[in-house]
Amino acid sequence: MPRLLIRDLAQVASPAGRAAPLRGSALADLDWIDDGYILCDGAEIEAVGRMRDLGPLEGDVEELHARGLSAVPGLVDCHTHPAFGGDRVDEFSLRAAGASYEELHASGGGILSTVQATRAAGEDGLTRAVARHRDWMLEAGTTTFEGKSGYGLDRATELASLRAVAAAGGIPTWLGAHTVPPEQADADTYLDFVLADVLPEAAKLAEAADVFLERGAFDVSQARRYLEACRAAGLALRLHGDQFTEAGAIPLAIELGARSVDHLEVTGPGGIASLAASDVVGVLLPASALFLGRPMPPARALVDGGAAIALATDFNPGSAFCESLPLVCSLAATQLKLSPAEALGACTVNAAHVLGRADSLGRLAPGYAADIVLLDAPDWRYLAYHLGGQVVSRVILSGRPVV
Ligand code: NIG
Ligand code: FE
Repeated sequence: MPRLLIRDLAQVASPAGRAAPLRGSALADLDWIDDGYILCDGAEIEAVGRMRDLGPLEGDVEELHARGLSAVPGLVDCHTHPAFGGDRVDEFSLRAAGASYEELHASGGGILSTVQATRAAGEDGLTRAVARHRDWMLEAGTTTFEGKSGYGLDRATELASLRAVAAAGGIPTWLGAHTVPPEQADADTYLDFVLADVLPEAAKLAEAADVFLERGAFDVSQARRYLEACRAAGLALRLHGDQFTEAGAIPLAIELGARSVDHLEVTGPGGIASLAASDVVGVLLPASALFLGRPMPPARALVDGGAAIALATDFNPGSAFCESLPLVCSLAATQLKLSPAEALGACTVNAAHVLGRADSLGRLAPGYAADIVLLDAPDWRYLAYHLGGQVVSRVILSGRPVV
């Protein structure tokens, strides 16, 4: 494979340094140059610099002329639910007319309606669905995505969901404790079943386990039981927490050494302080808060308090039918009061850290993966500034242009 030279870039912007995760003021530290180039050698970045410093290159080099475009690292979406059948457009219309997400869930709609459609899709249908959702993400600049199961809740469909995520190139997370399916008597009986019958195979397919710790889903002791069993099977731990109620997700995440606790729309001062003093990353999902008309997570207080945060889409059919991290960056700037630089760090290097890949992903620097987004913009901050616009022009994945 010849080397690839991306030349004449208006700007190149990357989170600075090599550390991860970035906390406090370091989240905004950027390496930022005008009139630059990026040289890729196979799947890795070989060099980044100013055009005026680019010497003659030996050997076979393909050139990509990027005049008027700006480069940022390939975006990393560390929280998505892409393995589902059907849609929830009827529910969306009901919510637009005033029904609440929690009411729909309690009356057997919501997540459970997607469970029915996902079971009916079959493994081929799920594989096609995840590939389609992956393509949407790629068009929006996402070069690495995590994908959860959680709409199967039976053995065959949970495992098929994890395989479908892996087949699409995603990083699978087993969300075996998303909600209790209708054929199970209660949460404890359901956990007896998944831990005995699904965990042994799920642990071979997934990198992490996730649980929805919430009123109407799983409580702290059920979440602890599920997560401890998953940790013993070798999985990293994630939690959905503080979405509607502060039900103990942050203390449990810290106690168990989880990689992240995600959502945090209702986290108060105590939760902010304890998360900030811990190694658990707070994954913020402003598209979900927007889509459900919920409060935005306390991003500013978390960053200013020294917490490590990441940003993700939460792409799913019910609470965030949105695959666009550029839109999430716009929401971060307009709703969460993060700077464009903080937003960029949160959906690149810090998201890569949540996925255990910050050594190789999330920066434009020698030795990192040649995953690069070229923005149709004279200034990289259009990533957040161009609200809902066609800001992604080209996407380079492992050193090859794919969009
Ligand atoms: O992260 N909160 C729980 N799970 C998903 C939504 C699932 C759905 O509504 O289908 C979330 O928002
Ligand atoms: Fe989620």
